[in-house]
Amino acid sequence: MKVALASDHGGVNIRKEIANLMDELGIEYQDFGCDCEGSVDYPDYALPVAEKVASGEFDRGILICGTGIGMSIAANKVKGIRCALVHDTFSAKATRAHNDTNILTMGERVIGPGLARDIAQIWLTEEFEAGRHATRIGKISEYEQK
Ligand code: RB5
Repeated sequence: MKVALASDHGGVNIRKEIANLMDELGIEYQDFGCDCEGSVDYPDYALPVAEKVASGEFDRGILICGTGIGMSIAANKVKGIRCALVHDTFSAKATRAHNDTNILTMGERVIGPGLARDIAQIWLTEEFEAGRHATRIGKISEYEQK
């Protein structure tokens, strides 16, 4: 699995925590910044990462901003992206098992680094259950083709 990782200025610390986690888990990833001192615009990071995942260049994406909300709104605009904003471990598992999400967002101003790490680890390792859940995702994909 190859993961595209990015944050805006509001998510730099958790992004570094997630990079360390992926190093420990032996997961291949590329860090797309930001290398920012000042403030940047989250769509400038969310949209390129989402496009890399949608095109198949990367299998998954993880995006961090202050709330996780802006990143998730932007990422979900890209066709083929199923992005979830997650701040608890139950949803981290469920959104992989049921929604086969390919991008995870979290908010550094909402949760701490320990919980973010647990969420990311679950999300990176949980399998999609398919079956009835695949039927439901298929309906979203069909809608996207209209
Ligand atoms: C930046 O101040 C903040 O708006 C951004 O990180 C994010 O929370 C947007 O949704």
